[in-house]
Amino acid sequence: MKLSLPALREMKRDGRPIVMITAYDHPSARIVDAAGVDLVLVGDSAANVVLGHESTVPATMDEMTMLTAAVNRGVENALVIGDLPFMSYQVSDAEAVANAGRLIKDGGADVVKLEGAGPSLERVRALVSAGIGVMGHIGLTPQTATALGGHKAQGRQADAARRLFLDAISLERAGCFALVLEAVPAPVATTISRRLAIPTIGIGSGPGTDGQVLVLHDMLGIRSSDGPQPRFVKHYAEVGDVMKGAIERYATEVRGGEYPAAEHTYSMPPEEVEAFERAIGAGSIEENALADW
Ligand code: KIV
Repeated sequence: MKLSLPALREMKRDGRPIVMITAYDHPSARIVDAAGVDLVLVGDSAANVVLGHESTVPATMDEMTMLTAAVNRGVENALVIGDLPFMSYQVSDAEAVANAGRLIKDGGADVVKLEGAGPSLERVRALVSAGIGVMGHIGLTPQTATALGGHKAQGRQADAARRLFLDAISLERAGCFALVLEAVPAPVATTISRRLAIPTIGIGSGPGTDGQVLVLHDMLGIRSSDGPQPRFVKHYAEVGDVMKGAIERYATEVRGGEYPAAEHTYSMPPEEVEAFERAIGAGSIEENALADW
């Protein structure tokens, strides 16, 4: 049974922590769903972690739609959230509705996510009026990280924290069903979470939010760059090392003639082998086989 938005609210009311993770392809989607997460975000972090870009800005609607569809095909229970990429919703309400509709109709997403408050509030209202569930995202918003002074914590001064608080309230009033709080100091995230009726999902925002989200490749230790990782990233496994070790072993076995072994090889009845050899004949291919071809 798919998790519903009312069920998500109930989880907050009951104090049951909400687990969200990103996924970008079908096999990963099957794994995270089987692991029992509540929410799967097809994040525009795909631009960084699977497409090799330095930021989320280059992610396109075509890419996000394709990735969302692949993930959706692998998820049975979790709610699938399609992430609206940069410039897919900033221009107008009409474009926002059309692009969100595409993530839902073509990508199979259950709901969408967008970043920011201020000008985004009108977009949230337009999407909700069109019957589309919207998750908000404030604090460190990677699509506009340059304007925020880089990838760093937001709301560390009282004034900025107050603005974040007001943004959170405005997004709830505009109709968001939940809110991501990214890189927000723990006391601010906790207060916002207590004051909102909708669930908050934290990333780098401490333990006081209603749920947590991590980027799949970060928590699995699959690195897309050699740069430092944010302090909130915890490696639950070193899958990158496991993959590299496996591929090194494969290369060694191919080079050493150990792979493929008999059990990896298709056989053929000896009489068929003989008949095949006879049919090919002893002469050159040009003389025997290709002449008839
Ligand atoms: O794109 C993404 O993965 C995100 C999460 C970090 C919340 O927005």
